[in-house]
Amino acid sequence: MWIKRLFLRGFRNYEQLSLDLKSGFNIFVGDNAQGKTNLLEAMYVLSVGRSFRAQRDQELIMAGKGAAQLAAIVHRDADIRLDVRIAEDSPKKLLLNSKNTTSRYFSGKLNVVLFTPDDLQLVKGSPAGRRRFLDEEISQVSAVYSGLVSQYQTILHQRNRILKDAAAGKRDRSLLEVFDQQLVSVGSRIMAKRSDAVHKLSLLSRLMHRKITDGEEEFILEYVPFFSKQCSTKPTVLSLESLQESFSHALEDNRELELKRGYSLVGPQRDDLIFFIDGLDARTYGSQGQQRTAVLSCRMAEMQFMRSETGSYPVVLLDDVMSELDYKRRQFLMNILSDNVQTVITTTNLRSFDASMRSSSQVLRIYRGTVQAE
Ligand SMILES: Nc1ncnc2c1ncn2[C@@H]1O[C@H](COP(=O)(O)OP(=O)(O)O)[C@@H](O)[C@H]1O
Ligand SMILES: [Mg+2]
Repeated sequence: MWIKRLFLRGFRNYEQLSLDLKSGFNIFVGDNAQGKTNLLEAMYVLSVGRSFRAQRDQELIMAGKGAAQLAAIVHRDADIRLDVRIAEDSPKKLLLNSKNTTSRYFSGKLNVVLFTPDDLQLVKGSPAGRRRFLDEEISQVSAVYSGLVSQYQTILHQRNRILKDAAAGKRDRSLLEVFDQQLVSVGSRIMAKRSDAVHKLSLLSRLMHRKITDGEEEFILEYVPFFSKQCSTKPTVLSLESLQESFSHALEDNRELELKRGYSLVGPQRDDLIFFIDGLDARTYGSQGQQRTAVLSCRMAEMQFMRSETGSYPVVLLDDVMSELDYKRRQFLMNILSDNVQTVITTTNLRSFDASMRSSSQVLRIYRGTVQAE
């Protein structure tokens, strides 16, 4: 799949933009604070329906304007049109072929994988970031998963309210049982999907990592369900039945504590991922270089995963990451991307690209929220 055309109006520092993209490499060069990341952010928003860096949708609206409009023509089997409309005073609108739709059906029409310098946080940062990575990854290829996640959030929210009231002696705890059942039922399905996806990602990223390190390092990505006390580095796919059982037990074990604290203590909202390099947790023991390679392997695996789930490669967005990679990693990445994948690259300096690559790419300059031929 590829983005043929992008339209922006009142988005970040883009007052108005209409841009044709190539199906291969597109390189955007510009100094700092000109709008490079904003451009990739727009494509990301058109993919998953929200930004990877804004706290609130309203931040995306150009200062002084009342609304932001984003649209893309995406070619898959046929052309489709995606629109996102964000206004100061009304709810966000998502449109598929000019008809209103929900985020569940919207996300997944355009698939993207984003590489950013912040990616290191995937290894080093908090579990919440790793759960977000999983959710965004799986939601892009499964509308069912997307639906389960929003269902789970609703159940969790309601259950927390009951726990809070029960803790304050305002409500009797018998109502909890209904919510416990729903929590286990929907939560376990989420976990089964996560387990399956991480298993696939682990196999793919292990291959990538081997290639990048000339077989010197063994990389394993492991899913750590909230109830798991130890990690095995022997990846397995967890069955729905075993997950339901473990989840139910965890609820029983924590019943009194939850009633005391007044909120839910167990569930997939506490899941995590571990990155193992040669059997050691890369978060604690990995060097910066190893962590960087692990993340790179992981992002490339994400790309392959989406391809195997949907039948076509996602659009790859590389935000200023070329300068951080050494020559070998850069070549490796470019070789994988060339031919099959639409790639949108931002850079402050064209010198990170060799002449042949520059000549086979569309190269454009970004200056204060405008795009010009280089
Ligand atoms: N809502 C907004 N309205 C107007 N300008 C914005 C808005 N959000 C960000 N900007 C501007 O966008 C620029 C940063 O763009 P960005 O794409 O992050 O830069 P870079 O080219 O370094 O990646 C800054 O000048 C910032 O002031
Ligand atoms: Mg930037």
